[in-house]
Amino acid sequence: MVTLGALVPEQGDPGAAANGDQASKLKLQTPQELYELWERQHWRSQEIDFSQDKQDFANLSDEAKDSLVWVLSTFFIGEERVTTQFSGLVMAYEDEHEESFLATQQVDEARHMQFFDRFYREVIGIDDPDFEGRLSRVREELNEAFGKLFDEALVDAGKRLIADPSDRGAKIDFITTYHMVIEGALALTGQYFVTRFMEENEIFPGFVEGFEHVARDEHRHVAYGTWYLQQTAGEDDALAERMQQKLQELLPVAAGVLVPPGQDPTGEWEILGYPSSEITEFGFKSLSRRLKAIGVPLRAPQPAAA
Ligand SMILES: [Fe+2]
Ligand SMILES: [Fe+2]
Repeated sequence: MVTLGALVPEQGDPGAAANGDQASKLKLQTPQELYELWERQHWRSQEIDFSQDKQDFANLSDEAKDSLVWVLSTFFIGEERVTTQFSGLVMAYEDEHEESFLATQQVDEARHMQFFDRFYREVIGIDDPDFEGRLSRVREELNEAFGKLFDEALVDAGKRLIADPSDRGAKIDFITTYHMVIEGALALTGQYFVTRFMEENEIFPGFVEGFEHVARDEHRHVAYGTWYLQQTAGEDDALAERMQQKLQELLPVAAGVLVPPGQDPTGEWEILGYPSSEITEFGFKSLSRRLKAIGVPLRAPQPAAA
């Protein structure tokens, strides 16, 4: 039985609860150390056994099926988006250690997309014969906030980095969008609650096994982003300001991505039985720990103009 403790890595991501409340200038793992960790943490998305998962999905109520498919669709398309939009950051490496790590992250994201594609084909039963068709079907599930974050903000940040990979401000914007907001605040939070739902109900052992590997990869990715921001925004007021502005712009958008269809984003909503207050608090605490390690606090929201 996989436990939720497995989602918290023994080393790496300072947002993980195990080592979060330490001094502000935490010694973080370097890109070379994260690259070497990647070599030790390989896994195979095509070899996970989904036979029990197929039975478990068939046994769910229609309402539970809808709810689970909706939340997993955000992950599936999210993994496709981050795989394709990552290239600009690989081009923006500043030394060969960073270049090596960034190349691993792009292939990790492709593996995550492949894992979800297999689950949608073999367990959920999406039967379009081509990958593109399956992605289009799954996209129908997503909300407007998803489009704003993944199709607009992430794509724009990637384009600006590709236009000039040496633009450090564009790199701060991209890493804040990708590693802090999408991976750190959103994906790891969603992963925690989806895994908890499956473990508490003792269902989907294959999915939980794969998702544990995905979470370990994501912690490595977020650890890189935290390291980069500590070296840059943590040392330069203008870059710190840029990171804070990006967080202020995107955190409200990210908060809407996990709101299921038909539920009021401004009120109390829930995913798989977990209330929005608990989900939001989990994401906010993880982000706060990472910002503490970076050395740049989250700015209080500005009051709306009268
Ligand atoms: Fe991923
Ligand atoms: Fe990632």
